[in-house]
Amino acid sequence: MTDSRSAASVRTAPHRIPLLGHAMSLRRDPLEFMRSLRDHGDMTRIFVGTRPVHVVNSPELVRRVLVVEARKFDKGAMFDELRAHIGNGLVTSSGDFHRRQRRLAQPAYHPERISRYADHMSSRADQMSRSWRPGSTLDIGREVDRLVRANFFDALFEPAPPPETMAAIEQWLSVKHRAMRRALSPLPPSAARVLARRSDDEPHGRLRHLIAQRRGLADSGDLMSMLLLARDPRTGEHMSDAEVCDELLTLFVAGIGTVSAALSWTCHELARHPTVDERLGTELRSVLAGRLPTAADVAELHYTRRVLQEVLRLHPVWLLMRRVVAPVEVGGVELAPGDEVFFSPHALHRDPVLYPEPDRFDPDRWREERRAGLPRGAFLPFGAGNRLCVGEGFAWTEMTMVVATIMARWQLVPARRHKVRARVGTVVRPTTLVMYPVPRPRGAAR
Ligand code: HEM
Repeated sequence: MTDSRSAASVRTAPHRIPLLGHAMSLRRDPLEFMRSLRDHGDMTRIFVGTRPVHVVNSPELVRRVLVVEARKFDKGAMFDELRAHIGNGLVTSSGDFHRRQRRLAQPAYHPERISRYADHMSSRADQMSRSWRPGSTLDIGREVDRLVRANFFDALFEPAPPPETMAAIEQWLSVKHRAMRRALSPLPPSAARVLARRSDDEPHGRLRHLIAQRRGLADSGDLMSMLLLARDPRTGEHMSDAEVCDELLTLFVAGIGTVSAALSWTCHELARHPTVDERLGTELRSVLAGRLPTAADVAELHYTRRVLQEVLRLHPVWLLMRRVVAPVEVGGVELAPGDEVFFSPHALHRDPVLYPEPDRFDPDRWREERRAGLPRGAFLPFGAGNRLCVGEGFAWTEMTMVVATIMARWQLVPARRHKVRARVGTVVRPTTLVMYPVPRPRGAAR
């Protein structure tokens, strides 16, 4: 292109501090900071310490990075660091190896496969919600988190591994949670981050043992069978034991916190929007008529889907990143290998040009006629392109099963004077959600 310009010519966002760059703004209010960058154009430059990073702010440019020129990017420096914690699974790997692992992992997420897990999900949600008592105080975030973990391990392991293995995984996850938040933080490294890298590799031995025991056995219907049995159609190869172990560790960190955050936000939004909640209740009564949901209901629960879409619009991941591996032009700017690019689904999803009244919770904005004008790349809760979330179908099914099961029975009322804020980590979660369940009235279906 004749009119393209160099990366150095991109305008730097205001409030850069020598040596710290924009670290203070990122630390103070990362969501507001990412939103504010929109005001400086489709591409702007920030500094993480002394390191320059290009931030792209429009659906077109984000799509260019994620889809059109995807092969010219890998995931970047923070994922190199994350690899030290969770190995070289789908989230952290790149290039040919990532393509191969993706081919091998993909069949595990086939809709037919996922529909098998759906019944377990709704029956677990049913069990949990039957244990609630009208008017009792609930920490909804914690309830939902427990449920999502149980659902996930049901889907991953059939039969369940020995309790010591489960305990080691849970322990590892709680240690890794903090370490990952640091690894994926755009803030400059700290001593704590270096310390966090030194971790126990407790579950690895136990997982390898489990893998060795399960090798050669028939498909038991779980996700792990698929990882063990998958064959690369090009080479006929299976994943090695070490590769399966890395993929399992990757799934623990990618498939639990994300769903649990989305479901917690759903409870929060429904509790704050009684009209939406009532319409949801009406749909659930009419479609389910008192029975538990199954995978076949996902396509029929139209309003439930819109509610979840709106939750994912308002509360997506706040930051994703890439690193250039081959020269590439983005928005008229020439980027060179090593250059880093950030983008924020949160900022895109709150852009008033794309979404009028962007802070309003309005599931009807996802009606066919209203969403028609939305450009591609404007809604990215699961990313896009070759790194699109491999668990997207799983997540939709799980969210639908859980919401449909719980909300068919209960309305959630927030505790008075209980203030909820967004807590920004690798995902954005609500702070503690204190609520009272109230039995949903059994009115006639509309
Ligand atoms: C509401 C729930 C979820 C959300 C919002 C979510 C979001 C995302 C996003 C945005 C990415 C792309 C990251 C990037 O482009 O850098 C991603 C990738 C990924 N997700 Fe999810 N995810 C969810 C649930 C799940 C579940 C349930 C699983 C597993 C069962 C999962 C496994 C993965 C994996 C393995 C990747 C890496 C894919 C690759 O790079 O090839 N996710 N997820």
